[in-house]
Amino acid sequence: MADQLLSTAPDYHSLPENYIRPEDQRPLLAEVDSDAHIPVIDMGVPDRSHVVSQIGHACRSYGFFQVVNHGVPVELMLRLLVVTREFFRLPPTEKAKLYSDDPSKKVRLSTSSNIRKETIRNWRDYLRLHCYPLEEYVPEWPCDPSSFKEVVSAYCKEVRQLGLRLLEAISLSLGLEEDCLVKALGEQGQHMAINYYPKCPQPQLTYGLPAHTDPNALTILLPDPDVAGLQVLKDGRWIAVKPLADSFVINIGDQLQALTNGKYKSVLHRAVVNPEKERISVASFLCPCNYAIISPPERLISEGSPAMYRSYTYEEYYKKFWSRNLDEEPCLELFQS
Ligand code: OGA
Ligand code: NI
Repeated sequence: MADQLLSTAPDYHSLPENYIRPEDQRPLLAEVDSDAHIPVIDMGVPDRSHVVSQIGHACRSYGFFQVVNHGVPVELMLRLLVVTREFFRLPPTEKAKLYSDDPSKKVRLSTSSNIRKETIRNWRDYLRLHCYPLEEYVPEWPCDPSSFKEVVSAYCKEVRQLGLRLLEAISLSLGLEEDCLVKALGEQGQHMAINYYPKCPQPQLTYGLPAHTDPNALTILLPDPDVAGLQVLKDGRWIAVKPLADSFVINIGDQLQALTNGKYKSVLHRAVVNPEKERISVASFLCPCNYAIISPPERLISEGSPAMYRSYTYEEYYKKFWSRNLDEEPCLELFQS
């Protein structure tokens, strides 16, 4: 049913009925805090302990931060944005070959978030790819545009290295051994969602993505450098994340909230859409290996801070996540001890 895709539809002049949120669920764009911002961390400074303490503060207070001087070549980030824009401009017949609404598929082009479960659609198309180990998945990736496989796989390798470095810093910031979280997560999976938000005739009535937390461990988002859209909930108010040249937006996912026994939060965020401009973002998700048992290290459990969640495997969590609609109550609440 590839005719479901927004990126192959003609321009809309008003929002189709099935995208319109009831009044009490709309984004209230005028109330978004555009002065506040999430922390920006320069990873290139020589004093690592300073970086670690900034990361700790950001994870505790925001669950989100931006990084600059992160070590991923800027040229590769730009090439990725070019190739993803080209992908969404492919002719409908090419895109139809990749279309699926089955979340268990390892390569799929889809729309909204989980159309088998939801009643109201979101203003978004996305290409979702499994990315680790690369040799296993790259052969199934799109061959068009012709540089897609080369650019996306080079990018995936770099982003994985950045993610592992961040996980080390996050471990240190909790007073844990540097490799503690990386070990707990096992041989991590890596997924990518290339998000395409077309320009939208009535952005005040809908979302690109409604408020949600990410089900994985750590998310590394390459945002559109020219168009804002990501918003993060902080103390009951939505903060608009401003595009910052050559940066990534990092956030803690549900699995790090569980592994840190709630010390670091997987925070609600959403994407709003724009009346004049389309927007692209590329989310890379590091995920525990399916059999990893998610249970915090002893050091993070104490009398004053008892275990918040029962232990479970990531496989169990991930199945539960996709069996639901994105805007139900946070999935992690179902795993409370
Ligand atoms: C996501 C996400 C935000 C954005 O893909 O999980 O939150 O700005 N994306 O596209
Ligand atoms: Ni998200």
